[in-house]
Amino acid sequence: MIREHPTTAYTDQKPGTSGLRKKVRVFQQANYAENFVQSVFDVVEGKEGATLVIGGDGRFLNREVIQVAIRMAAAAGFGRVVVGQGGILSTPAASNLIRIRGALGGLVLSASHNPGGPDEDFGIKYNIANGGPAPEKVTEAIHARTRTIEVWREVEGSDIDLDALGETRVGDMTVEVVDPVADYAALMEQLFDFAAIRAAGLTMAFDAMSAVTGPYATEILEKRLGFAPGTVRNGTPLPDFGGHHPDPNLVHARELYDLMMGPDAPDFGAASDGDGDRNLIIGRSRFVTPSDSLAMLAANAHLAPGYSQGLKGIARSMPTSAAADRVAAALGIACYETPTGWKFFGNLLDAGMATICGEESAGTGSDHVREKDGLWAVLLWLNILAATGKSVDQIARDHWATFGRNYYARHDYEGVESERADALMSELRGRLGALPGERFGDLVVEAADDFAYEDPTDGSISRNQGVRVLFEGGSRVVFRLSGTGTSGATLRVYLERFDAARTDEDTTAMLADIVAAADAIAGIVRHTGRTQPDVVT
Ligand code: G6P
Ligand code: ZN
Repeated sequence: MIREHPTTAYTDQKPGTSGLRKKVRVFQQANYAENFVQSVFDVVEGKEGATLVIGGDGRFLNREVIQVAIRMAAAAGFGRVVVGQGGILSTPAASNLIRIRGALGGLVLSASHNPGGPDEDFGIKYNIANGGPAPEKVTEAIHARTRTIEVWREVEGSDIDLDALGETRVGDMTVEVVDPVADYAALMEQLFDFAAIRAAGLTMAFDAMSAVTGPYATEILEKRLGFAPGTVRNGTPLPDFGGHHPDPNLVHARELYDLMMGPDAPDFGAASDGDGDRNLIIGRSRFVTPSDSLAMLAANAHLAPGYSQGLKGIARSMPTSAAADRVAAALGIACYETPTGWKFFGNLLDAGMATICGEESAGTGSDHVREKDGLWAVLLWLNILAATGKSVDQIARDHWATFGRNYYARHDYEGVESERADALMSELRGRLGALPGERFGDLVVEAADDFAYEDPTDGSISRNQGVRVLFEGGSRVVFRLSGTGTSGATLRVYLERFDAARTDEDTTAMLADIVAAADAIAGIVRHTGRTQPDVVT
């Protein structure tokens, strides 16, 4: 029996950079999650008898939303739901399942690196049949639907047992509870030389941040690769991530950073975020920026079995440093510059134009799935360490000696009043035409624009993707408002300076002039009232 629930539209269900993210309290309003899920189902075609993957990062509300989404999927005509045991699926594992099961799509329940718990964040993202986040035309249609929705539907029935592996029926639909790790671990074994990594005898620390990668990392690193028990820290997914912020950066993964900089550092340190798609890479006494990690992985990927044939191309988001461009040039392959958001890589990967993609926001991945993949990056690094016998520090130094160094940092100003942040950006946009030729200390503006992207595969155009100010000599500053926050605005200022010869300098010192220029150009202090960023990554 299908039950229809009359509902009233909410006006704030516009998906951001990565799905709909709101405070848990917002999601707890009557029909809030149901309206959004129904809007997804109303918009996607071909549901009859199709397979839908559902899973999340285990955060607060995960199980409740999964239960109702299953009943709604049955009412929408799906033939099968594949759901991770305990409601758990990392984002890359969900992407893989969608692909190997030939699913129509998937619901990924996560707010990624945002904190979880009753007072924190929840999120719902729809992924399409290629395993990647829905492109803008789909999310726009979903948003339009959320504004007119009047009813949501579910098959009547009780909750299923999410903890028991195997199949059950909900209405005419089969629900299959699967091991969330098995298929993903098998894929990793295909891509990387597990025997070589095992034989290398490396030591490592992996911080799962009490989030979804715990079970994946324990199975892959400790069980299959033989790293010592205890290598995986904070390995049990908790609904509130232990009260921590599951964002693998130098602020929130401080303990790991301190370990890696101290006398007892293992060979390799890494962390992943709430839903397992981000990564933090730290060697002994050597932090690797995400932009550099992308470049170094691309330069060395051929050492791993899955990439031994070489790369077809590299793609990076616009605010990511140009380090990867230099690798692409050396390899004689294309490098694509896309707006922020993994969804922009999907078409390039589907078209076979890019093999490896990455973003400054700690995301790296390849054409093996259609999401960024934290553990994948960790395993590729391990494979490279094992194949070369070098340390992370040596790999980094050798890389910079060959390609030069793109000194890079991102300054975040969090919780800024939206009006103030918008005023800063619109004033900046208004100044763009006048900036070329202006001098800030020793820096002279060469060009300035608001980044727009034309997708080379379908010609779609995305505008207003961030303000770039390019200085003579290859330095630049980029200004953007975060699309993933849930309260106020976060201003991100991306700072970059290239130096071909001086590759062992202090990043802060190398970027000081650009930091000063950024404030002079955008009036950060004047608009935000802040004299210091909240987070420097
Ligand atoms: C999510 C997306 C990434 C993107 C990031 C940007 O993590 O999956 O692809 O780079 O958000 O976040 P921001 O807060 O800068 O919009
Ligand atoms: Zn994430």
